[in-house]
Amino acid sequence: MAVVDTLTSQDAIALENQYGAQNYHPLPVVLSKGEGVYVWDVEGKKYYDFLSAYSAVNQGHCHPKIISALKNQAENLTLTSRAFYNDVLGRYEKYATEFFGFDKLLPMNTGAEAVETAMKLARKWGYEKKGIPSNQAKIVVCQNNFHGRTISIISASNDPIATENFGPFTPGIVSIRYNDINALSEVLKDNNVAAFLVEPIQGEAGVYVPDKNYIKEAFELCRSKNVLFIADEVQTGIARTGRLLATCGNCACADKNCSGTPEVKPDVLILGKAISGGVFPVSAVLANNEVMDVIRPGNHGSTFGGNPLACAVALAALEVVKEERLAENADTLGKIFRAEMEKLIQESDLVRLVRGKGLLNAIVINDTEDSSTAWNICMALKGNGLLAKPTHGNIIRFAPPLIMTEEQLYECIAIIRKTILEFKVQ
Ligand SMILES: Cc1ncc(COP(=O)(O)O)c(C=O)c1O
Repeated sequence: MAVVDTLTSQDAIALENQYGAQNYHPLPVVLSKGEGVYVWDVEGKKYYDFLSAYSAVNQGHCHPKIISALKNQAENLTLTSRAFYNDVLGRYEKYATEFFGFDKLLPMNTGAEAVETAMKLARKWGYEKKGIPSNQAKIVVCQNNFHGRTISIISASNDPIATENFGPFTPGIVSIRYNDINALSEVLKDNNVAAFLVEPIQGEAGVYVPDKNYIKEAFELCRSKNVLFIADEVQTGIARTGRLLATCGNCACADKNCSGTPEVKPDVLILGKAISGGVFPVSAVLANNEVMDVIRPGNHGSTFGGNPLACAVALAALEVVKEERLAENADTLGKIFRAEMEKLIQESDLVRLVRGKGLLNAIVINDTEDSSTAWNICMALKGNGLLAKPTHGNIIRFAPPLIMTEEQLYECIAIIRKTILEFKVQ
């Protein structure tokens, strides 16, 4: 289409502004091509992608193996609904459950849908297995969480922008402080709690890494109280934090043959984003039989969940994670990145701290939370060929694709360094 072919950035932005709901505030860059760690705008300028679609493109843009799986499957069968079986879903379910060490997988599409699924699963388990009286089940969540955008999920949010004028909210959700084991212990005295839903690192909130033992202690508390521990690894999962899963302890993957010891094995694991390498909306809830088997035909589903195209893509995307040792690479590069940012902090007053795990990191800018400094730094980074986005005011998240090489990382660090050192606060 000629009109689309000749679109300038300005044209594309004007179209979105006029015809699209204004539910995002994007950086003013219009991308038309992606390959590996790079993206290009419509004028042909090349950038390092340091966001990876919020950690969805862990395997890099348009990974050839994943795109090939997509093309092959697209020529054969794309959607059957679950009214019929298809010849890819079972293979994908076997691969993914063995990969992550669970009995069963429930396929959905978006991260939010998978979180909703986990909440429904927890409630049903609470009534049928734990014996919680009808309609009394509670799910415990953490303040400053981000689990998605549906009504029930925002009912668990304390972010006014996400919640204002969207009530009434779903009952049965109790919010406690993140990284506060005493608060969890207190709330678990209530026998009607079915589950604790938690992000192993709070990504959207600004890459908050909890204390070293928090997740393990929280898991053990849940175990002792017969409460399901639900890990939302939509953002932290699939090698992002230098482990296959962030809930996995001192090993670099959760592979069954791995010699490391998993720190905790969640009762329910929620995955999305990078499970498809950012190629297609795929999400999943994994659990063992004693939990997952409370779901019977008709209880839950989705027309597109488990479609053959998604399954073929996800299978290939998971294979890439293993074949290219993305967890190990994220671990190695993450350590370099944080060490280099620490050096930068010594040289510049503009950056207050760096935190993160693997290649999920953030720097905190030395300015007030409502300042536009982080945004302006991201604009300057864009000018210098690197795309990142502020999250919650003065925090900039840095999450490049995990296929990045050490040489590319050092080039990115040089861009960030130069931008920060040259930056003048307005
Ligand atoms: C931890 C977490 N859970 C759930 C979601 C929701 O995923 P989606 O945007 O695919 O609905 C996100 C998205 O950023 C997330 O970071």
